[in-house]
Amino acid sequence: MPVAQRILHISDLHAGPPFLPHVAEHLAAQAHRLKPDLVVISGDFVQRADFISQWETAKALRAALPSPQLVVAGNHDVPLYHLHLRLFNPLGRYRRHISRDLNPVHELPGMVIVGANTAHGLTFDGGRLSRSQTATLRHILAGYGPEYYKVVVWHHPLVTPPGGKRDRTMRGAPDAMELLDTCGVDLLLTGHLHVFALNHTRNLNPDLQRGTLLCQSGTSSSRRGHGSEHGKNSCNLIEVDDRQVRITHMLYQEAVTEFVPASEHIFPR
Ligand SMILES: [Fe+2]
Ligand SMILES: [Fe+2]
Repeated sequence: MPVAQRILHISDLHAGPPFLPHVAEHLAAQAHRLKPDLVVISGDFVQRADFISQWETAKALRAALPSPQLVVAGNHDVPLYHLHLRLFNPLGRYRRHISRDLNPVHELPGMVIVGANTAHGLTFDGGRLSRSQTATLRHILAGYGPEYYKVVVWHHPLVTPPGGKRDRTMRGAPDAMELLDTCGVDLLLTGHLHVFALNHTRNLNPDLQRGTLLCQSGTSSSRRGHGSEHGKNSCNLIEVDDRQVRITHMLYQEAVTEFVPASEHIFPR
């Protein structure tokens, strides 16, 4: 991988009442200036999946962002009030307006990025990975040797940062960490918590072989920031070459109408 591959990681757009259209507009313009090799959007496109107008806003923002994109659904992308849809076609609207592919795969030179939908019909918050999704992930990643940098994208995180009022991790998180480890996954990108966080699965389970870097994006375009990102918007720029991965956490600043680096984190490969 002679040249660094660049991924712009954004999340929790939340089109609807908490949406900030001017932040979204500047996010799209800056994303084009950054010229990423891939834009990852880790779920929660809308605030309430019951309202078509919110899907139209989310769809327009997706179209305004550069391509290629790899996207996964979040728990807010499942209707809440429309019980019939929630039970029998929970991601029908996501599939119609955002993406028909719920478990997307994208290749870049020296890298593979695999997304999976962790928001299922009766999920109110926590999320999970089904048995067939687990098998699919194993099958896909078995096709890529150790020379590939392997990235997985889920909406739900595997750890709740300190200070969180309640546990918001994915159901079965310890098993999911083992799955990532046995599949040789280098990096997991998630959303849902509305605050930037970095961690490593070996901090949580030292018995893992290599472990996986965990990178969390805050909300990139809504008022729903939590904790240290209360009232803030963030995204991550991830640059991977054959020696290292650099993660730049970027916060939106109204004075300059763009996301500016807030912290930089470098990890050897
Ligand atoms: Fe969210
Ligand atoms: Fe969420």
